[in-house]
Amino acid sequence: MTRDLAVAIDGPAAAGKSTVAKRVAEKLSYIYVDTGAMYRALTFKAIENSVDLENEDLLSDLLKHTKIELVQEHDGQHVFLDDKDVTNGIRTNEVTSNVSYVAKHARVRKIMVERQQKLVEKRGIVMDGRDIGTHVIPDAEVKIFMIASVKERAERRHKENVDKGFHSDIDELMEDIRKRDEIDSKRTASPLVKAEGAVELDTTSLTIEEVVDQIIAIVNQKQMGGDQNGFV
Ligand code: CDP
Ligand code: CDP
Repeated sequence: MTRDLAVAIDGPAAAGKSTVAKRVAEKLSYIYVDTGAMYRALTFKAIENSVDLENEDLLSDLLKHTKIELVQEHDGQHVFLDDKDVTNGIRTNEVTSNVSYVAKHARVRKIMVERQQKLVEKRGIVMDGRDIGTHVIPDAEVKIFMIASVKERAERRHKENVDKGFHSDIDELMEDIRKRDEIDSKRTASPLVKAEGAVELDTTSLTIEEVVDQIIAIVNQKQMGGDQNGFV
């Protein structure tokens, strides 16, 4: 019998984390948790309520009174904000360009991390975000730091937008990605950094399947190797 592990996937915007994490979770029959969706849901609510995104007190108070749920449905994971389905609403340009301002506040992060850690009480989980390997699951058996060039990441998002029939501009996308990377990497509260022991995967010229296969191979290797108690 193989033991269930925790797989932490971190990296900058549009590196392929959620697409790959979802597939890895499916293949392993693990639970997938998209932590970015939780920060996006809070940002959506803050914008709806005209809360000043620089005000840490107001935002952390708002979060305390906010229910965010990730629910697996037949067509994928849905995000519920106070029981309302906001799966599409949290992906708008307005939310995307503001989410890093909300996510930089230490007190907001503390509450989010506590909620995320409750989901990890059982192994058999793939979680993606910016601080999973460093703060949310520092003892994850598998840690991946996924990167890709800014140009490649903007092109991927562009293709996604065009396929959905949305307005899309490569230069604007590159600008948004650069700006978010900068805020996420330079904030004082759990910035985006490669966790100790994480395997760095540059996906710039890799297909989704290639990345998934590499991660599954790392998981298999960990399961074969056993842990310090000799449990395989
Ligand atoms: O999918 P995309 O890379 O566009 O972003 P996301 O994973 O949905 O995350 C949106 C934003 O939430 C990020 O740019 C970060 O500012 C923040 N975030 C974070 O700070 N910590 C996490 N664990 C996940 C997301
Ligand atoms: O979660 P994150 O923001 O890191 O990225 P994503 O939303 O999973 O991926 C961004 C886009 O890149 C999606 O449209 C994926 O299908 C695509 N992608 C790709 O073309 N090649 C990869 N190796 C990984 C993702």
